[in-house]
Amino acid sequence: MGKISYVNGRYLNHRDATVHIEDRGYQFSDGVYEVIAFYNRRLLDEDLHLQRLTRSLAALHIISPVHENSLRFVMRELIARNNRVDGTLYMQITRGVAKRDHPFPHATEASLVMAVTGPKMPKAKEITEGVGVITEPDLRWARRDIKSISLLPNILAKQKASLAGAREAWLVDEAGMISEGAVSNNAIINAKNELITHAADEHILGGITRDVVLNIARKSGIKVIERSFSLKEAKTAREAFLTSTTSNVLPVTRIDGVAVGNGKPGPVTLKLLSLYHEHIYAQTGKQWN
Ligand code: PDD
Repeated sequence: MGKISYVNGRYLNHRDATVHIEDRGYQFSDGVYEVIAFYNRRLLDEDLHLQRLTRSLAALHIISPVHENSLRFVMRELIARNNRVDGTLYMQITRGVAKRDHPFPHATEASLVMAVTGPKMPKAKEITEGVGVITEPDLRWARRDIKSISLLPNILAKQKASLAGAREAWLVDEAGMISEGAVSNNAIINAKNELITHAADEHILGGITRDVVLNIARKSGIKVIERSFSLKEAKTAREAFLTSTTSNVLPVTRIDGVAVGNGKPGPVTLKLLSLYHEHIYAQTGKQWN
């Protein structure tokens, strides 16, 4: 059976899953998206992702073409039709197809597309040894809290990371403060074993994994401080890690080639990863070895 994707009410062979050239997502990046992991066919933190989707749509004044219950139904149906047990679901809603003109079109229905792929989890070695990140100037706009499909600065930074053999690019402003990664949030652990991470304001995309991990950290007695940290602070931190739907909690052991702490994944990071695995297990029954 081939891969099936969803386009505006229809389940199609993936190769036929196309939208019109005048879709405003295609012409203007006028849309939003979500990436949700599923294990044992169960969506992880589905409610939190749908809440963020609602916030992103509202910020851009896009009206979802379907009710939330239908969205939940289509996600499950797509996972079932693809016969996938574990994987990642991509969902995108754009302002729809209209003659190219910058102001919002009238009476145009938004477009909804979805696709599923296999799990994109980090390799065992990336967890046991940690990953390297490079740093890049943060070239993005002022509403990074919206999960917009407009990702040019993110892909340019990620491409540089890729060419440098690094897992991720951390984005730094003119004052030397780090906002987040090109496709992930990040945090450091200081000498007092406190967790420091950028506040979920308009300067970063408030990650669902970030939210869950911060709750887990607080519950396990780790002090969480939500403030931005500088590149200098990160390079001299005891531990560092990144979080995202497709990375879970991933130890960062090199920043621009400089070892973080002793250059190995730290105990706080590994504890948070193990507690995050428990969180996944509690919701989906997925076991980690
Ligand atoms: N990226 N920050 C940015 C800029 C992101 O693109 C992402 C996610 C995150 C982490 O968010 P979450 O924990 O909700 O996945 C933070 C997704 C996975 C992507 O674009 O593929």
